[in-house]
Amino acid sequence: MRKPVMAGNWKMNCDSDEARELADGVVAVAGQVEAADVIVCPTAVALTTVAASVKNSKVAMGAQNLFWEADGAYTGEVSAQMLLSAGCEYVLCGHSERRGRFGTLDEADADDLAAVFGDTDATVNRKARAALAAGLKPVICCGELLAERQAGNTDEVVVAQIKAALCCISAEDCANVIFAYEPVWAIGTGEVCDGDEANRVCGLIRATIAGVLGDQVAEDMRVLYGGSVKPDNVEGLMAMEHIDGGLVGGASLKADSFGDLVKAAEASAAG
Ligand code: 13P
Repeated sequence: MRKPVMAGNWKMNCDSDEARELADGVVAVAGQVEAADVIVCPTAVALTTVAASVKNSKVAMGAQNLFWEADGAYTGEVSAQMLLSAGCEYVLCGHSERRGRFGTLDEADADDLAAVFGDTDATVNRKARAALAAGLKPVICCGELLAERQAGNTDEVVVAQIKAALCCISAEDCANVIFAYEPVWAIGTGEVCDGDEANRVCGLIRATIAGVLGDQVAEDMRVLYGGSVKPDNVEGLMAMEHIDGGLVGGASLKADSFGDLVKAAEASAAG
């Protein structure tokens, strides 16, 4: 039985004061949940503030990104060790908003700032390995673009991302890994992926993991769905065989709605 997870990715929202208020609110509504893991991922500058809020609660903290070197001349970057010492237990790796699959930042796509961050399958793997080596738990994100889905390439894209992400990661390490399927076209659009289809792709992710690291690792791996998860659709998603939780953007920015999602995750553990 896999323990459900509800993770809030706050993205570039909440300054330190707002982050404290939100984290305190999450602790109040979800701080003593036993049957599900609850994770909040604030911006890097709010980590120490949020660490103080979630201390002595069941709420764990994650960062949104890391760099794979431990220290050195890498202006603007933050290492796994630094995140750990700030109180992180988890770190997101390869969120679609950081993957550079959107072309270059020329005039044609100047509004598409996702192009500037440039994570690739190879750098996502390096980040996940650095996280594991430091004792952080990576939440590895994957998912197809709208154009890839429309071209019928969803499975191919997702399988390639999973295989690349798992390079040099052992079966033992996988106990500390979570995967998240986030179809890019469903993120922040209000367009949730149909539950059966989300379940099918999460099952494909599990089958891919089984092919690389064996059935038991795949059976134990927690696979989340992300993309417009809300209180009114979470129950259906959590009821799916291969969906073990949610990675949530917009609905994680209010303690009440995130609390509802956490309660749905907890209820799914009983069901
Ligand atoms: P939304 O829940 O706002 O669609 O964002 C999903 C996401 O990207 C979480 O990482």
